[in-house]
Amino acid sequence: MDLMTTMHATQSCQHKLASQLLSLFSMLAAKLGKVSLIVGLITLALCGASHAATINLSCDSVHSHPEICRSVAEDWARKTNNEVHVVNAPNDSNERLAFYLGLLRSASDKIDIFEIDVIWPGLMANYFIDLRPYSKSVEKQFFPDMLANNTVNNRLIALPWYSDTGIMFYRKDLLKKYGFGLPKTWKELAVTAKKTQDAERAAGNLKMWGYVWQGRAYEGLTCNAMEWLGSYCGGTLIDENGKVTINNPHAIEALKTAASWIGSISPKAVLNYGEEESRGVFQSGNAVFVRHWPVVWAGSQRADSMVRGKVGVMALPTGSAAGRSTGALGGWQLAVSKYSKNQALAADLVNYLTSAEVQGPRAIRSSVNPTIMSLYSDPALVKANPFMAELYDSFATAVRRPSTVTGGKYDQVSALFWSATHEVLSGKKSADIALVELEAALNRLAPGGKWTAPALENP
Ligand code: GLC
Repeated sequence: MDLMTTMHATQSCQHKLASQLLSLFSMLAAKLGKVSLIVGLITLALCGASHAATINLSCDSVHSHPEICRSVAEDWARKTNNEVHVVNAPNDSNERLAFYLGLLRSASDKIDIFEIDVIWPGLMANYFIDLRPYSKSVEKQFFPDMLANNTVNNRLIALPWYSDTGIMFYRKDLLKKYGFGLPKTWKELAVTAKKTQDAERAAGNLKMWGYVWQGRAYEGLTCNAMEWLGSYCGGTLIDENGKVTINNPHAIEALKTAASWIGSISPKAVLNYGEEESRGVFQSGNAVFVRHWPVVWAGSQRADSMVRGKVGVMALPTGSAAGRSTGALGGWQLAVSKYSKNQALAADLVNYLTSAEVQGPRAIRSSVNPTIMSLYSDPALVKANPFMAELYDSFATAVRRPSTVTGGKYDQVSALFWSATHEVLSGKKSADIALVELEAALNRLAPGGKWTAPALENP
C-alpha cells in the first residue's frame, strides 16, 4: 500500500480528522523509516468497517437520459459513504454485448454492475452473482415475467431497471390538419404517411418523410422486424419449442411490406438509422410517424423540441384486420459481476437504483417505463405519461425475441435475422429467397440440429 493510495482511501472515508492524523503519523513514521507499515495500520484502524469503495457501474440508460443514472448513483454514494464511477459503454445493444463479453471473458473486475438487455440473461447468466441473498425480498414488487426472464437455473441474476415496448409516435397536428384518423393496419399507415408527407412537401417542408424507424443492420432492426412478423401472424422466428418457423408466407408478406416503404414513405437512409437517428428526424419535425421506445415521449415534450405539444402515441399497426398489434419487448436490467471485489455493496446499489424511490421520479422525468407494478397506479406518473395507462394492455402482450430458447446463441441468431432482413429491405435479395436461406442457417446453428434448452456461456 503506498502513501498516496492510503491517503486517498482515507479521504474517501470522509474522515477529515483521520486525514490530518494520518499526515502527522506519516511524518513521524517517515522519520522512523517504516512508512508503509505504519500508514497501513493507521488507515485500517481509522476506516475500519466503513472502508469506502468505488463501484464501477455501466448504466447510462441506453437511449434514455444518461444523467439520471449518474445522479441517482451519486445519491447512493453520498448516503453510503462510497464512490461510484459510471463507465461508458456503446449505445447499440449488440456492440454493448461485445464490449461486456470482452471484459467478462477475461475475468475483468473493471465493471461491478452491468446494465444488461432483456435478451441477454441466457447468454450471460454465468458471469453474474445470484442477487437473492442481497435483495431483502424486494423482488416481489417487480412484474413476475421480468423476474422470470432474469432467473436462470434458479438464480436471480439481475433486477429489472426499466422496461421497453415498441410503440408508434405520430404528429397529431398533421393528422388533424389533413383529416386522417389513426391508422389501424400497416397499409393504412402507409397511405396516411404518404399523403401527409406529400402535402407537407408541397407546402414547403421538403425534408418531410412519412415514417421513420430503425433499419440499420443491428439489434434494433431485429426488434422492428419481430414486430412486423407478429403483426402479420408470421411467428417469432423460432417458436418456444425450438422449431424454426421463419420461412412462412406471413413472414414473407411482412418483409415485402416493409421493403415497399423504402424510398416511398421512409428515406433510404433509414437503412442506417438506429434509435438516435430516427428520434432526431422526428423531433426536428421531419417525420409524420416514428416507431420507437417510450423514452421519445419525454424528449418530444421538452422545451427545445420542435414537436412539443404536437405528438400522439398509439400501439403499432396490425398486418391485416385479423392481425395483432405487437410491440417488441425490450428493457434493461442491472446485474452484479461475479468478478466484482465489492459484490455486497454493488448489490446494495442495484437494490437502490431499481427501487420505487428511484424509478418513480425517473419515469415522470424521462418517460421510461418502470418495472415495479404499483408505480403504474401513481396519478403523477399517469399525468406525465398518459400513454402508460392507455397502452398498458399492449405492454402486457409485447412480443418476445427468441432469447430463451436460443440461450447462449441468441446473439448469432439475431445477427442472422437482421442481416437477412436488411438484405430484403435494401433490395439485395427477395424475401422468399432470404427466408429459405435464413431457415437453413438457423437450423445449422442449432446445437445438435434442434433448439431446445439454453446453452449457457461457461466462463
Ligand atoms: C432498446 C430495448 C432493447 C433493445 C434495443 C434495440 O434499448 O430496450 O431491449 O434490444 O432497444 O436497439
